[in-house]
Amino acid sequence: AGRCVVAVDGPSGSGKSTVSRRLAAGIGARYLDTGAMYRAVTWSVLRSGIDLTDAESVAKVAGEVDLRIGTDPHGYGVTADGVGVDVEIRGPEVTGAVSAVAAVPAVRALLVARQREMIAHAGRIVVEGRDIGSVVAPDADLKVYLTASAEARAARRSAEDATEVAVTAADLARRDTLDSTRKADPLAMAADAVELDTTGLGIDEVVARLRELLTERG
Ligand code: C5P
Repeated sequence: AGRCVVAVDGPSGSGKSTVSRRLAAGIGARYLDTGAMYRAVTWSVLRSGIDLTDAESVAKVAGEVDLRIGTDPHGYGVTADGVGVDVEIRGPEVTGAVSAVAAVPAVRALLVARQREMIAHAGRIVVEGRDIGSVVAPDADLKVYLTASAEARAARRSAEDATEVAVTAADLARRDTLDSTRKADPLAMAADAVELDTTGLGIDEVVARLRELLTERG
């Protein structure tokens, strides 16, 4: 099979990760979780102890950290300077700080360049994030924008990390506001993206719909 890039964007808790991984496994493609890259940089920034509002120092850490991320949809891992950080990057400290780090233009420029390299190298890949269809891979073969009601998104996240729904709902709302109002590459639906509301849909139904869309596009 030839080159095929699928861009999956949308707000937090819209089901992007599970759906993207399953789609990639199903079509024999690689999988790239760009959120994990922003999270790993954030972990390094927090560990370095620098001030999160000091954009210049944040960008410096981002430029120096040796970030590695796997693209196997069946099991991928992230390391920062050789340390496995898969668990740490999902914790409340990183989740609370990641949107601030991801808003720094120099951090985005760096990670977007890395992401484009990985996409070019993989050839067949499902990439999930906030700006994949709009910025990272504007020539993707299929762009989808997953949404879901705020209630459905909070309920899904809470089930994943056992946090109270109200706390999760507040955190998602906070991150969505930061992610969609930042100046550099905000969360946005690409003009040629297919919007899919996943409220009330099961994972298998969403994946099946995306496979249909891919088939339609040849
Ligand atoms: O997808 P996930 O929730 O892991 O992403 C964590 C954060 O990383 C988002 O809230 C957003 O601030 C940032 N992000 C981004 N651009 C991407 C992917 C993630 O700004 N392509």
